[in-house]
Amino acid sequence: MEELNFLSEQGVDQRLVRSALAFRERYQVKEEAASRVRAPLMPFYGRDLLEMAMAAVLEGENLLLAGPKATGKNVLAENLAYIFGRPIYNVSFHVNTGSGELIGTDTFEGNEVKLRKGIIYNCAEMGGFGILDEINMARNDAVSVLHATLDYRRTIDVPGYDRIDLHPAARFIGTMNYGYAGTKELNEALVSRFLVIDMPAQTGDSLEFIFRKMFPEARKEAVHQFIGVFLDLQQKSMNSEITTKALDLRGLLAAMKIVRTGLTPWQAVRMGVVNKTFDVFEKQIVEDVVSTRIPRSWSREDVFQ
Ligand SMILES: Nc1ncnc2c1ncn2[C@@H]1O[C@H](COP(=O)(O)OP(=O)(O)O)[C@@H](O)[C@H]1O
Ligand SMILES: [Mg+2]
Repeated sequence: MEELNFLSEQGVDQRLVRSALAFRERYQVKEEAASRVRAPLMPFYGRDLLEMAMAAVLEGENLLLAGPKATGKNVLAENLAYIFGRPIYNVSFHVNTGSGELIGTDTFEGNEVKLRKGIIYNCAEMGGFGILDEINMARNDAVSVLHATLDYRRTIDVPGYDRIDLHPAARFIGTMNYGYAGTKELNEALVSRFLVIDMPAQTGDSLEFIFRKMFPEARKEAVHQFIGVFLDLQQKSMNSEITTKALDLRGLLAAMKIVRTGLTPWQAVRMGVVNKTFDVFEKQIVEDVVSTRIPRSWSREDVFQ
């Protein structure tokens, strides 16, 4: 199937690709959830990571993608849902995430008390892929309501209502940022319910690959400098000289796009990277990194042929 060509192009094991196609065949998506089946904004690049993740999904396992910012955790999660043809249910976890939002809450309809289904409930019913984004940011007691959902029981117990079984195609993919200062740990009981993929930090090579794929027409030398901006900032945040705010690969790639439209590289990188931090001192450091890589005199033609 053409949609999955990006897997074969990277040399992903054909058996896994065939199994993914069989999975799509076996589990049709219900009408109500069809709008949640979305092509990802960009393909995920990384054969080994794709193979590990696909194998886990095929075996019915839930996945935890753990690693530094901008390692493609969300891109991978979205790609997986698409590879298996499933609707996406995204939950961004924060300290106030509660069971009501996840499982459901009581509401009044007329004179009756009814369950307003939470996002995990809907995901379970529709056989969705639930993306539990930054799951480590939630309070432990809030996520403990998911224990039976995430382990072999594959159920949701809604107090005062029935217990429901997960649709056989339902999977959960957690993401968790760590690797820089201030990581909030995930508790052991929860981690034990996932297979964990350690997402490697970007390297010159992995970035080169992403930039080449996205901007095949860009000049090699300019791409080298854009990649350098990211690697320099990555180094500075690893050394705790700056936070991860400006370490924004999506922003840097967006900057490349607007350069292609005609904006000067310097302006574009300001919008995509420098302006992501609102601390004047940090901003100065980021600006210095950018200045050594992206000359103010550059125009579109210095980046694109
Ligand atoms: N392996 C990869 N393949 C494709 N794009 C990637 C990859 N790694 C990072 N990216 C790019 O980096 C950006 C940030 O990725 P994201 O998934 O949001 O990172 P994370 O969730 O790990 O912070 C994406 O917009 C994507 O363009
Ligand atoms: Mg993320």
